Amino acid sequence: VVDTVGLVREHVGAARAKGRSIALVPTMGALHAGHLSLIEAARSRDAYTVVSIFVNPTQFGPNEDLAAYPNTLEADIDACRRAGVELVFAPSVAEMYPAFDQTRVHPGLLADTMCGVSRPGHFVGVCTVVAKLLNIVQPDFAVFGQKDAQQALIIRRMVADLFMPVEIVVAPIVREADGLAMSSRNAYLAPQERAQAKCLHRALKAGAAALSAGTMDESTLRAVMRAEIAETLGESEADERIDYLVAVDAETLQSIARDTPQVLLAGAIRFGQARLIDNLLVDPPGRAG
Ligand code: PAF
Repeated sequence: VVDTVGLVREHVGAARAKGRSIALVPTMGALHAGHLSLIEAARSRDAYTVVSIFVNPTQFGPNEDLAAYPNTLEADIDACRRAGVELVFAPSVAEMYPAFDQTRVHPGLLADTMCGVSRPGHFVGVCTVVAKLLNIVQPDFAVFGQKDAQQALIIRRMVADLFMPVEIVVAPIVREADGLAMSSRNAYLAPQERAQAKCLHRALKAGAAALSAGTMDESTLRAVMRAEIAETLGESEADERIDYLVAVDAETLQSIARDTPQVLLAGAIRFGQARLIDNLLVDPPGRAG
C-alpha cells in the first residue's frame, strides 16, 4: 500500500521491467462485489494490478455526500489483498491536488446530459482525477464499470481525444439477487428504501422490453419506465424522486432515431440520502450482434 506518486512509479516500473503488463482499477473505496469484478477483469489478463482508492473531492458538488462518503480503507485493503491486487495506491488529497494545482479536464457535450445536469462539474472532477491517475500509473489498460455508463463513455472519449496511450476496458454491471445494481451508495438505504430501490432495474427492463418490441420513440420509452417506478413509489413521489430516465444513443447520448445502432436506457432516482443510477444497453430489433 503506497500513498505517493513516486512510490507508485517505483513499483510499477519494477513490474514493467519484469515484463508485466499493468492494469489500473480506479475506485473511491467502499469496495463491493462490483469493484471485485473490475479487479477480476484486470487479473484475468494476468496484469500487475494497481487499485487506486481515493475519494476525489473535485467530483462532488457543494451539497453532495463527500463528507459522508463511506470510508472503509482497512477493509478495502484486505479485500484487495484477497483478490490478488499487487499494489494499492491510497493518496491524500494533498498528494493528488498539491498547492496551486490548477488544471482541469473539461469533457464537453457528453457531460451536458443525464448525471451532468444534476451534478454540474462532476465529470470535470472525474476526468481530471482519472487523467492524473492514468499519468501516474501509466497502465496498459484501465477498468471501469458499465454501471457508470456515462462516466465510461466520457473517459473513453477523453482518452481518444487526448491521444492517451491506454486501453479502456468496461466491465458489466454486477447486481444483487433482486436486480439492484451494486453501489457503495446502497449502504445509505434504509430497509424500506432498499426494498423500493429494485424498481429502477424493473423500469429499465420494461423499457428494454418495449424497445425490443419495436418502440423507438424516446418519450414512449420514458413513459413505460416511469410507469414502473410510479407503481412502486406512487405518482407524485415518482415525479419528485426521479432525477432522469432516458433512452439515448449509446455512443453519443443524443436522441435516438430509427437507425440508432444501440440504445442506452438509463435512470437516476433519489432514495433518501442516496441517489442511485442504473442502465441497460439494448440492441433495437434487427440490429443485435
Ligand atoms: O467511479 C468512481 O468510483 C470514480 O468516479 C472514479 C472513476 C474512481 C474517479 O474518482
